[in-house]
Amino acid sequence: MKLKTWLTVAATALTIFAAQAQEMSNDEIADRIKPLGKVHVAGAAAQGDTAAAGGAKSGEDIYNSACVACHSAGVLGAPKFQVAADWQPRLDDRGLDGVWKNAINGINAMPPMGTCGNCSEDDIKAAIEYMIEGI
Ligand code: HEC
Repeated sequence: MKLKTWLTVAATALTIFAAQAQEMSNDEIADRIKPLGKVHVAGAAAQGDTAAAGGAKSGEDIYNSACVACHSAGVLGAPKFQVAADWQPRLDDRGLDGVWKNAINGINAMPPMGTCGNCSEDDIKAAIEYMIEGI
């Protein structure tokens, strides 16, 4: 086959293919993408279950999403991340359980649960342990 003939055949095939693609109705397109959508939703639901069970989040994750805004720079007098001078007096005074209780209930400018709406009390403890790690 000569090149020019081959090109004509290829162009014709492309034209037919493009015309067919355009004939796909919205319903057909929706049908084709539906299974993917289902898989995605199922995945998101599964993730939600794990988070609700409290298994998926580490103290580091919680700190970075809920506590970092205040505890990194010490906003409003918040004890700063892994700064012993900020944390030690509090730990000496009331221990880990005492500061944990205050984090759950809130104390002064420290909001209850550190504003983490979907954290369990154990999640809060994990975040505190991360904040005082190595001090
Ligand atoms: C809006 C700012 C803010 C956010 C967000 C925040 N904190 Fe605090 N936090 C504070 C401030 C301010 C204090 C100091 C309160 C005081 O002793 O007067 C504090 C104190 C604490 C203390 C010490 C309590 C005590 O008894 O001395 C713990 C523990 C604590 N926060 C944990 C957390 C955790 C865990 C998170 C995230 C889940 C969090 N905080 C999020 C502002 C914040």
